[in-house]
Amino acid sequence: MTVANTVEARCCFKLLYAIVVVLLLHMSSPCIGCSERERQALLALKQGLQGLVGDDGNRLLSWGREAQNKDCCQWDGVYCNNQTGHVVKLDLGEQYLQGKISPKLIHLQHLEYLDLSYNNFSGSKIPDFIGSLSNLIYLNLSNVNFGGQIPNQLGNLTHLQYLDLSSYGYSVVHAKNLNWLPNLSGLKHLDLSFTNLSDVVGWLEAVNMLPKLRNLILQGCNLPPPVISSVSVMNSSKSLSITFRVHCLI
Ligand SMILES: *[C@@H]1O[C@H](CO)[C@@H](O)[C@H](O)[C@H]1NC(C)=O
Ligand SMILES: *[C@@H]1O[C@H](CO)[C@@H](O)[C@H](O)[C@H]1NC(C)=O
Ligand SMILES: *[C@@H]1O[C@H](CO)[C@@H](O)[C@H](O)[C@H]1NC(C)=O
Ligand SMILES: *[C@@H]1O[C@H](CO)[C@@H](O)[C@H](O)[C@H]1NC(C)=O
Ligand SMILES: *[C@@H]1O[C@H](CO)[C@@H](O)[C@H](O)[C@H]1NC(C)=O
Ligand SMILES: *[C@@H]1O[C@H](CO)[C@@H](O)[C@H](O)[C@H]1NC(C)=O
Ligand SMILES: *[C@@H]1O[C@H](CO)[C@@H](O)[C@H](O)[C@H]1NC(C)=O
Repeated sequence: MTVANTVEARCCFKLLYAIVVVLLLHMSSPCIGCSERERQALLALKQGLQGLVGDDGNRLLSWGREAQNKDCCQWDGVYCNNQTGHVVKLDLGEQYLQGKISPKLIHLQHLEYLDLSYNNFSGSKIPDFIGSLSNLIYLNLSNVNFGGQIPNQLGNLTHLQYLDLSSYGYSVVHAKNLNWLPNLSGLKHLDLSFTNLSDVVGWLEAVNMLPKLRNLILQGCNLPPPVISSVSVMNSSKSLSITFRVHCLI
């Protein structure tokens, strides 16, 4: 063998070695991480929100732009599907955040669980674009100080099983009708406590069309008739548990 041949063989071997190493690294990496689009959506969400008491003690602190913090699946309150890497759960309940929900939230198209309870959205309307998160199974907007009309777009969330719009204390959301409600045919748990349903004449019919409903909580909703005794006509489920506060019924 000539010297030139040996050098060539070494080169080839090195190249082959490098290829094998790269391949192995790819195969053995179980961590997929989050997509750039979802990361940007979360950063936009953070930008619109801030802590009520400085920026201390809320989960958004761990959300950052730094290169070493790129994988948003590692951020507090963010959960990803471990096979696809998509963000599937966002738990921002009880963070005492204040501000505006960025419309970029809808880039989290795989979101199944969204908890924004106990934050303060200052009496603003529930954003219509929440209706685009069509994979949601769980939506908790309890005590977030939303006001105005409940958007009909919630009727787009056909996978929902848990919906909590209850409010104890601050602004009150209002509904003209619940025509969107029967679209949520998988709903098991519905809490509309202290929302203003005084204009919703067909509320019982709407609720009655939910075949899987198990928990219905309607405290302080200013419900129009029918009164509680009529609820026995409900056919949706024998094991339905209903909580009313009687003094709120007309
Ligand atoms: C992936 O997630 C599922 C539940 O979401 C869990 O049961 C499973 O152990 C996880 N697998 C890995 C490798 O973390
Ligand atoms: C919510 O925010 C509004 C202003 O945006 C403020 O007036 C109100 O006091 C806040 N509510 C609570 C409970 O912090
Ligand atoms: C309903 O969801 C689809 C995606 O499933 C989306 O394209 C559409 O804009 C949503 N409509 C509303 C009113 O949110
Ligand atoms: C929504 O969040 C509040 C406060 O975090 C909690 O008390 C309530 O049970 C939640 N609702 C549902 C349906 O899980
Ligand atoms: C409810 O579902 C029906 C048919 O599935 C659809 O035509 C309608 O637009 C939906 N309503 C809302 C508010 O999403
Ligand atoms: C509920 O809404 C009705 C009319 O839309 C209004 O007259 C009433 O004052 C509201 N009640 C509360 C508690 O906001
Ligand atoms: C009983 O529930 C079904 C849906 O589960 C609905 O289509 C039907 O109209 C309801 N019947 C009455 C009398 O409300």
